[in-house]
Amino acid sequence: MDYSRREVIACGSSRIVNRLPEIGLDTAVDGILEGLACSPKRISSRYFYDPRGSALFEAITGLEEYYLSRTEKALIEALPFEAIAPAPDLDIVELGSGDHSKISLLLGGVSARLLSGIRYVPVDISCSALERSIAALARLFPALEVEGVVADYFHQMHPVSSGRRKLFCFFGSTIGNLSRKEAAAFMRDIAASMESGDSFLIGMDRVKDVRLLERAYNDSRGVTAMFNRNILSVLNGLLGSDFRPEKFEHRAFYNRSMKRIEMHLEATEDMTVGGGVLREGIPIARGEAIHTENSHKFDEGDIRLIGEAAGFDLRQVFSDENRLFSLVHYEKP
Ligand code: TRP
Repeated sequence: MDYSRREVIACGSSRIVNRLPEIGLDTAVDGILEGLACSPKRISSRYFYDPRGSALFEAITGLEEYYLSRTEKALIEALPFEAIAPAPDLDIVELGSGDHSKISLLLGGVSARLLSGIRYVPVDISCSALERSIAALARLFPALEVEGVVADYFHQMHPVSSGRRKLFCFFGSTIGNLSRKEAAAFMRDIAASMESGDSFLIGMDRVKDVRLLERAYNDSRGVTAMFNRNILSVLNGLLGSDFRPEKFEHRAFYNRSMKRIEMHLEATEDMTVGGGVLREGIPIARGEAIHTENSHKFDEGDIRLIGEAAGFDLRQVFSDENRLFSLVHYEKP
């Protein structure tokens, strides 16, 4: 791949290509102000993940109520790798790779012979997360070739032609955090980056009993609430504003008609938030809610349609016995 114009960072015996400088970060503040001027107010979920937010999210994935991560990991571990890997010489491109835990489970089931033909390309917005996971993978799979890419994969999907078969992976039901329209566009972008015979393995959380869904986003230890409120601290850092996170209540509930969990922050008193670029201040009324996240859930029909709309063939759906979560394998015809 040609990265000549991009910043390349050495990472042990691997390298990381930083593509973030290509996108203008100054537009972020405008976007935030626009969301706060909307009615109802909203904040993009991309601002959850400062170091504290990432640590809190990590804690969420270990919660008893949050069945998603452990169910998906069990599915990855049980996956018959040969059935989804289109060729012995393979690029595995993982979007939003985060830590190395999921890909390690996938690679754990691969024979040493096949492993030597694989190049792993983790794509993540966090360079430090990439460095950590590359170091861990070098210890676990010394023969594995790794090339990290720092990028915002939602906005920086480009056709990459490596002349090798590709398997794209997108775990965590992160697709559910997009609107249905954005998800469709994202699937089309992935398809456009693929050649005939390439594969796409994607985690999708399923439609299920509302109590189970709502419990997963309202844990008894209040970690999800802390995670949700933390977005206001992140905004304070970016805008110089004076949001008081403790004056907001975490609200997460299932919206049946939209088939999604919605997360909001509800003001517990009348207030005016100002400071920094907020200048004259934004009034927020007691009981007013700021929308921070959606987590869409998928049924069998959604899984079929979302693939079809992007021109994929649906190869196989791997689900746990309680049908909580699915790993879906699509192929580009
Ligand atoms: N995609 C996962 C989900 O929707 C992870 C996630 C994103 C999440 N934002 C979240 C989990 C907010 C809890 C709270 O569940």
